Amino acid sequence: MDIYKLVIRPLLFTGLKSDPEWLHQQTIRVLSGIERIGHRPPANWLQAQLQQSLCVRDVRLEQKLWGASFPNPVGLAAGFDKDGVAALVWSSLGFGFAELGTVTLHAQPGNPRPRLFRLPLDKAALNRMGFNNSGAAAIAARLADKVTTATRPIPIGINLGKSKVTPLEEAAADYLGSFRLLKDWGDYFVINVSSPNTPGLRALQDAAQLSSLIDALQQENQGGKPIFVKIAPDLEWDAIASIVSLAIAHQLTGIIATNTTIRRDNLKTQLLAPTNFAWRTQPLDIHKEAGGISGVPLRDRSTEVIRFIWQQTQGQLPIIGVGGIFTAEDAWEKITAGASLVQVYTGWIYEGPLMVRRILEGLLQKLEERGLASISEAVGIEGLPGA
Ligand SMILES: Cc1cc2nc3c(=O)[nH]c(=O)nc-3n(C[C@H](O)[C@H](O)[C@H](O)COP(=O)(O)O)c2cc1C
Repeated sequence: MDIYKLVIRPLLFTGLKSDPEWLHQQTIRVLSGIERIGHRPPANWLQAQLQQSLCVRDVRLEQKLWGASFPNPVGLAAGFDKDGVAALVWSSLGFGFAELGTVTLHAQPGNPRPRLFRLPLDKAALNRMGFNNSGAAAIAARLADKVTTATRPIPIGINLGKSKVTPLEEAAADYLGSFRLLKDWGDYFVINVSSPNTPGLRALQDAAQLSSLIDALQQENQGGKPIFVKIAPDLEWDAIASIVSLAIAHQLTGIIATNTTIRRDNLKTQLLAPTNFAWRTQPLDIHKEAGGISGVPLRDRSTEVIRFIWQQTQGQLPIIGVGGIFTAEDAWEKITAGASLVQVYTGWIYEGPLMVRRILEGLLQKLEERGLASISEAVGIEGLPGA
């Protein structure tokens, strides 16, 4: 019996009409509390219980990629733990890796609230958070305190974005400043140029701009940290193709596909229901609200983008797939289209903490059905035409 879906979710989403951001903050608060006192009772007991019920260890799910060991291919997507306050707890919830951030050089509050909405009819979310985070220096100090190679139970990615106060022309210096502060604490880094919620940011996906941005980071990256670029699902094929060429030319490690979409055309939801916040009692028109859509409406498009990149590169450029994963079938589609790893955010909100376990068990079943010995053998098997 799944208590989360039967009792907790209906109560939180419908009964209490709780504000999604408030709920997110409470979740993060509890998890960071568990992390802080994780070695003492009762938090150590709780962490052990979580591990027992939520984790799946199986050698067939393990991969060694870019110098790091991933115990399984399902990671936490960027945006959930923006400040890295629960960086060491994600492994106890079953995740195979966790991406922190987006982190910006300067601390910033993000956009005014409300800025996160649920679309239950579509199993989706709309967010325009705007990179609220405590800034690269503060996050580096936090990670330096707790994240060593020994304490890091799973690989940690750090997603970097541009500070809102920094003009677009100075973006490279801004990303570079964050990278310098954080480079010791991540197993991989992500250049996020695809959030719809920082004015002008997506223009950095343009080849010339992206090229100088990557150049700046690669010059600093003498330690050879894996660097990915995270792209939007709304790009045209030729724009994706030119980012792929650029990534190869500049020896990036790979692409994260994809961020949220600004499209609204395939949604059942037309009005966003009010939450319990008094200052927002009128339903809002989804077509007039700024922000990016995540969850089920994004699923097929992000898989298409993954397949396109895999085909363009004949599988030579690693891909981390993200967008609308709720089930093992969804994760399998992305992996077989070409993703070496996948990430989840919105699905985890809707499906609850058992989701990662269910996906991993389902992936093992798929491997057995296909007669494959490990998850790496499944990567891209449906990616090439005629496969
Ligand atoms: C509330 C929220 C905040 C997000 N914040 C970030 C972010 O800071 N940086 C980023 O690269 N992606 C961010 N994302 C996008 C996710 O990482 C992911 O790419 C997207 O939601 C698609 O995955 P999903 O359908 O599993 O949610 C955010 C998504 C949500 C729902």
